[in-house]
Amino acid sequence: MNRTLIKDLKDMVGQEVSISGWIDVRRDQGKMIFIDIRDVSGKVQSVVLPNAEAMETAKQVRPEWVVEVRGKVNERPEKNRVEGVNGGIELEVLHINVLNEAETPAIDVSGDGREINDEHRLEHRYLDLRRPRMQKNIQMRHKVAKFIRDFLDRENFLEIETPFLTKSTPEGARDYIVPARLYPGNFYALPQSPQQYKQLLMASGMERYFQIVRCMRDEDTRGDRQPEFTQLDLEMSFVTQEDVMALNERLLIEIVTKLYPEKRIQQTPFPRITYKEAVEKYGSDRPDVREDKNDPNLLAFAWVIDFPFFEKAEGERSEWTFTHNPFSSAIPAHTEGLKNKEKIGEIVTAQYDIVLNGYEIGGGSIRNHNPELLKSVFEILGYSAEEIESNFGHMLKALASGAPPHGGIAWGFDRLMMLLQGEANIREVIAFPKTGEGKDPMMHSPSEVSDKQLRELHIEVKKPKN
Ligand code: AMO
Repeated sequence: MNRTLIKDLKDMVGQEVSISGWIDVRRDQGKMIFIDIRDVSGKVQSVVLPNAEAMETAKQVRPEWVVEVRGKVNERPEKNRVEGVNGGIELEVLHINVLNEAETPAIDVSGDGREINDEHRLEHRYLDLRRPRMQKNIQMRHKVAKFIRDFLDRENFLEIETPFLTKSTPEGARDYIVPARLYPGNFYALPQSPQQYKQLLMASGMERYFQIVRCMRDEDTRGDRQPEFTQLDLEMSFVTQEDVMALNERLLIEIVTKLYPEKRIQQTPFPRITYKEAVEKYGSDRPDVREDKNDPNLLAFAWVIDFPFFEKAEGERSEWTFTHNPFSSAIPAHTEGLKNKEKIGEIVTAQYDIVLNGYEIGGGSIRNHNPELLKSVFEILGYSAEEIESNFGHMLKALASGAPPHGGIAWGFDRLMMLLQGEANIREVIAFPKTGEGKDPMMHSPSEVSDKQLRELHIEVKKPKN
């Protein structure tokens, strides 16, 4: 008999069916045994009647055992009906086939899991992901990603993969580096974002690129920050700041209205706040503009614009550092200032951040497509002519080879999903995240490697003295 998904049982009253899944709860009432069975699509209450052939097996099964159950779908008597998809039916069990037994689960998987220590949850993540809250989070993450892909496909974007083994670049955080076996003493870097590649794709004439892509940054983990995280990254040619913002705003509104109809967007078009106003009025460049902070279904999006390009810093190269992205352009009124490196602290960049309920969920900019202007940025940042050539020569050459005007944005996809799912930590919307200390307690990573591996890489480890 073909397998029926549990969510479809409600439409099969009177029929004999076969379902497969996990024992969720088992209640032995002496004469009868009630078993809730769960699969990816839902739950159903099943009953083993006195004298049923399945009674012996029903006495043995325990929570989290995997079973195949043949039974008859019955309507429940009026007084026994409950809320929920299968609240009006029950499965009368005819036969139970045990597919696999299970040890008593190391963590409870029926509740929402919030009372369980995070390290413990991540150590048993395959169990933790069984709980309905986590199943829902992962399912919705898929739905939103698919919605984005379909939307951008209709808008003529191409999803293009970019390398993970790449070169260390200045994105603001520390790089994860990978030793290159064939070139002792040389290292690849894992990308902090595909920033340079997506701009190079614009120089290649791809015009509209996107990628739902993993980015790696060796920074301290927080509730909204993981060492590896996912961006919706996109870039467009022949656009203004308004074009990029309008497309992203449209996509965000469609995601909410189509996939989260119970949520309310506070204001459309999204309000725009200058960096100065944000800092003066809200004391933050990612202001929480919600008018009611108790409403879990309220989504207050806002754009933050007109950021200073540079800020003073005790840098190793220069007294200036960039605030967001060295590849951004200045706003048109400040192009001359950037070219002449005048009033550096006053130059405004064509950068736009999107914030949601006080979280920065994305940021992007119109880029410098003029190589001379990009060179000015790196000169302000204190790079020597040789350093500019060795680090960014490829970008300057690409821009000088007929690169179209272009700009883009990247969303923090995990942060967006955290807020849409009403979670307080991005770990809750990532299947296999790291702990706050950057560890994976299930795989025991990071871990030492063998002497042979180190020898091949020409690496000697100096253990820190405790
Ligand atoms: P940025 O560095 O602002 O921009 O990153 C874009 C968005 O990614 C999210 N984010 C993170 N999420 C989880 N964990 C992290 N460690 C983490 N770091 C960043 C944030 C942020 O807004 N290349 C540019 C984008 C562009 O200009 O097109 C970039 O990466 O939500």
